[in-house]
Amino acid sequence: MAEKVEALRRGEVPIHEPGLAELVQRNAERLHFTLEMREVLEPARLLFCCVDTPPTVSGDADLSHVHSVVDDLGDSTEHALVMKSTVPVGTGRAVSRRRAAIGYAANPEFLKEGNAVDDFMRPDRVVIGVDESANSVLGDRVEALYRPLEAEFVRTDVASAEMIKLASNAFLATKISFINEIANVSEEVGADVAEVARGMGLDDRIGPQFLRPGIGYGGSCFPKDVSALKQLAGNSGYHFQLLTSVIEVNEMQKRRTIGKLQRHLGSLVGREIALLGLAFKPDTDDVREATSLVLAGRLQGEGARVRAYDPVAGPAARDALGEARVCDSALEALDGADAAVLVTEWPEFAELDWEGEVRRRMATPLVVDGRNFLDAGRLRAAGFSYEGVGR
Ligand code: UDX
Repeated sequence: MAEKVEALRRGEVPIHEPGLAELVQRNAERLHFTLEMREVLEPARLLFCCVDTPPTVSGDADLSHVHSVVDDLGDSTEHALVMKSTVPVGTGRAVSRRRAAIGYAANPEFLKEGNAVDDFMRPDRVVIGVDESANSVLGDRVEALYRPLEAEFVRTDVASAEMIKLASNAFLATKISFINEIANVSEEVGADVAEVARGMGLDDRIGPQFLRPGIGYGGSCFPKDVSALKQLAGNSGYHFQLLTSVIEVNEMQKRRTIGKLQRHLGSLVGREIALLGLAFKPDTDDVREATSLVLAGRLQGEGARVRAYDPVAGPAARDALGEARVCDSALEALDGADAAVLVTEWPEFAELDWEGEVRRRMATPLVVDGRNFLDAGRLRAAGFSYEGVGR
């Protein structure tokens, strides 16, 4: 953490997030980075808590960082805590019990990695939860901060605001697992899931977004928040049946690729498999809960040799990849490979010279496209065996 703060002081942003470095540099004079709570408490009255809440072994959210912020606050009557971190429903009430003097507002974020700056500037909605009796003025102050963004405001109570965040992520994850299952059935019955998703998405009640099938969702939010909501329900005595299936479908989806490779190659022992992409999605170097890591582990478990390439996430993934080789280019990973598995839809993978250079270099012309990203017709015409998802 100290290193990150130092980097920020030097004007370097230690996170790959489009637009963020420019934003920090443009506002450098108004930004002050510190590890000292006292330096924050003096000038500020509204304190946005943005610490992480990673999953514990049981699937609950680990609130230790939130607790340490709350502990550092003391019992000031002048400050209010605005919770941006994703926390279980009930956290606001628990914090208010511990620090009765401090105002509390829930203000969950809905930012997508790789698009966070834009999502912040153009939010679909801004949710502000306060427990009215104590804090309605606080709600107005938080709303005033966002007013220049011309957003739709949802003013509600703290518990409902906390639930809006978890339910939104759980619903989007449900949509993905749903379309993944439709894709799997489509493979069996000869339908094309891209056509199915297009036809479904035109129904306003369904909408076109988050209907892209693939090899499962990853990242720091969906896996964690879906299991946190399931756990939260379980802790209160309710078995959230649907979310149990959403998680299970996602886990199975990551593993289906192995079956596709085996159908073409037989045993994977000694086979050279190239993974194209390591980040959990493009435009980020984040490999948390990335499908690539599960795949690399499973492939090595089957006896395959794995080489992997990602335009930015190589260093972040290296430690989690075991024996797999992290390559400096896609061509290096594909050289002599028995199969290419496209894991992350980075644009540069579509621009490779598949017909020429790639075809010449690969030992077996087999492509498993985990994101339906490449041009299937073009690859088949160039002599590749091509396997997409649900088509
Ligand atoms: C998500 C939510 O979108 C955001 O609102 C919340 O604040 C944090 O979690 P993020 O994790 O950055 O954002 O990524 P997102 O773009 O939502 O994708 C998550 C995962 O779902 C990725 O692995 C992506 O590949 C996958 N996905 C997404 C699909 O498989 N299909 C889709 O149609 C959409």
